[in-house]
Amino acid sequence: MSALAERDITIDSFVDAGAGSLARDVRSGLGRPPGERELQPKYLYDEHGSELFDRITRLPEYYPTRCERAILNRQAPGLVETTGARELVELGSGTASKTRALLYAMAGAGALDRYVPFDVDPSVVENCAHELTDLYPGLPVHGVVGDFQHHLGHVPAGERRLIAFLGSTIGNLLPSERGAFLAGVREMMGPSDRFLLGTDLLKEVGVLEAAYNDREGVTAAFNLNVLRVINRELGADFDLEAFEHVATFDPGPSWVELRLRARSEQRVSIPGADLELTLAPGEEIRTEVSTKFTLDVLARELASAGMELEAFFTDPAGMFGLSLAAPV
Ligand code: SAH
Ligand code: TRP
Repeated sequence: MSALAERDITIDSFVDAGAGSLARDVRSGLGRPPGERELQPKYLYDEHGSELFDRITRLPEYYPTRCERAILNRQAPGLVETTGARELVELGSGTASKTRALLYAMAGAGALDRYVPFDVDPSVVENCAHELTDLYPGLPVHGVVGDFQHHLGHVPAGERRLIAFLGSTIGNLLPSERGAFLAGVREMMGPSDRFLLGTDLLKEVGVLEAAYNDREGVTAAFNLNVLRVINRELGADFDLEAFEHVATFDPGPSWVELRLRARSEQRVSIPGADLELTLAPGEEIRTEVSTKFTLDVLARELASAGMELEAFFTDPAGMFGLSLAAPV
């Protein structure tokens, strides 16, 4: 039998194949008055966007991935032991590069029953299902291609699950979305499940802003990629050269805001969204927020969602936080 035939991979898809929701979201986000225009971050991640993101995680300025990896490498065996987890569900799994420490610890404890990667980008779910079944022959992988703001109900049922949401992806949700998301996670949890949440922590502004303004311009290319997606999917004619990447920290909401700023007046036609747009010179479109947390805020928000913080780990310098929460 070939190695391929022995793989135990299932992939369910819940994202609509057409550009329907993109068209709706672009219409409602860009159709707003100047100063309020925005796009949703999930559209940054097509295949090219996911590749650029993977490069971001290796940039010298982008400390969160390194710090979170260090925490996971160190804490994974203990986490597996204290939670008694037998299954790993990973929301926004991407390349799952840091998750391997958890899978390794689970396999070492003889407790790796299944891995469930969940991501909006089908290419990363497929790639990671194949890579992980190479690493762990016989590992059942049940991938879900879906939107974690809408499709958590489609995560396969299970027990003793560790539901991981890493990379501070939760920080890319707006506060109201964050509350709804956490409530959704709580709803899918049984008493034996645990939630593992990675969050970037509040720190010196210079360090925060540098992480999103790398010298190589990879973050800028990632940000601009959303315009490329809209051009391709909706037949739009955004000129990528005419926009500048902007990322600044706003202490009010405690987030780094990513925006695209028109260098000059832009007339853009987006036929797939039935939208004609004029942007004034200097006008900005918000593409993403990256919220920076404190332990207090995390404990409070988890509690509001019906979860109790059981443990909180950071790297030695306190840059990044990993929370372990149980349903109450
Ligand atoms: N967990 C990885 C990747 C983080 S990047 C890490 O820590 O490095 C965020 C990931 O979430 C991307 O793979 C992106 O495709 C996915 N994502 C973004 N918005 C999503 C949504 N609404 N639903 C599901 N996945 C989403
Ligand atoms: N969630 C991570 C963060 O907020 C990764 C990320 C999402 C990111 N979008 C980004 C990193 C844009 C750089 C640029 O940091």
